[in-house]
Amino acid sequence: MTEELSEPEAWELLCEYTKGEALRKHARQVESCMQAMARHFGQDEKAWQIAGMLHDLDYEMYPDQHCIKAKEIMEERGIDPLYIRAMLCHAWGERTQEKPESEMEKSLFTVDELSGLINAACLVYPSKSIEDCTKKSVLKKFKDKRFSAKIDRDHILQGCEMLGMPLEEVVDICIGGMKENKELCGF
Ligand SMILES: [Fe+2]
Ligand SMILES: [Fe+2]
Repeated sequence: MTEELSEPEAWELLCEYTKGEALRKHARQVESCMQAMARHFGQDEKAWQIAGMLHDLDYEMYPDQHCIKAKEIMEERGIDPLYIRAMLCHAWGERTQEKPESEMEKSLFTVDELSGLINAACLVYPSKSIEDCTKKSVLKKFKDKRFSAKIDRDHILQGCEMLGMPLEEVVDICIGGMKENKELCGF
């Protein structure tokens, strides 16, 4: 793989290391949120999508070496350092020392966990669909710490703070992105 990684090439790489439906769905959801965030910032949607898609590349096969293995794999494949840094930054303070600096890195850090919360909120509706998802209901679930307790609310808030955006706005953008790609996102 050379300098210019295409979206289908990125997906092929992801699928090579990720067989499970849930993690593939997560990749698509983060990708969709990233696309919407790129549009918000007037940046390269395709690049942000790929960064979102690849962030958990090694998680299924190497959960204990998450990020370390992904870095190795991506370097071996000659993947653009832009994506390697974004991947490392998504786990800043938890598994890596790479602090999100760019808008893309800060967005990925934020929407990774947030997309998980939105997905969990959707599963509560009878339709289980993103179509019925509202900002209000996601914000309510955000405040209810017992709901999907594993999702780190402080991590999300830290991301919003880095972005200089209120949580409400990021939630709105992410719901929009997931709605736009609802089939890809598994809804
Ligand atoms: Fe991760
Ligand atoms: Fe993730």
